[in-house]
Amino acid sequence: MRRCLTAIAILAGFSTLVAAGEPRIAFPEDYKSFKNYLSLDRTGNDNQVIRLFANDIAAAGPSKDGGLPNGSILVGEIYKAKLNDKGEVAESVLGRRIRGKLAAIAVMEKRQGWGEAFSEDLRNGDWDFAVFSPDGKRLNKDLNTCRSCHAPLKDTDHLFSIDHLQ
Ligand code: HEC
Repeated sequence: MRRCLTAIAILAGFSTLVAAGEPRIAFPEDYKSFKNYLSLDRTGNDNQVIRLFANDIAAAGPSKDGGLPNGSILVGEIYKAKLNDKGEVAESVLGRRIRGKLAAIAVMEKRQGWGEAFSEDLRNGDWDFAVFSPDGKRLNKDLNTCRSCHAPLKDTDHLFSIDHLQ
């Protein structure tokens, strides 16, 4: 009985660790060879630009269930927008922001069973999240902010840009 309780305690401890952000996503070193499927002024920020990349599995688009297959990796390069002389966000002739310095690299990766560690409000199917500095070092951000913003998008496999992968 005691051994059983110990096992439960260890298991519970393990899932807390995972939920607390025990890193499972490695920096995708080769992401620049992924498909750059979309680049845009960030919709939720007024001074950033994002370039989105998908590995081969993700770039092939959703499967019949409407979601991306396991093994999908999506990468968002987040740039600061360039500023004009007045310190305002500069606009190109197209009325779009202009990419400045690379600020961070946001990653989503989907693997069988990865979502099981999370409560419903933080669960994004089997996706998990990570964020890295431009040189690939893991940044110590609260990944639950990522999870809670993407989690409500149940009809699009928790992705904002899935329609651009078809
Ligand atoms: C407040 C909401 C919000 C938060 C928090 C958030 N995201 Fe997103 N995410 C978005 C939106 C909106 C997009 C679409 C592109 C854009 O406009 O920036 C997006 C796009 C993405 C994409 C491309 C796939 C897709 O869903 O289109 C990745 C990868 C990503 N986010 C990772 C992250 C990571 C990692 C974090 C946490 C460090 C995070 N996101 C936090 C709203 C959010």
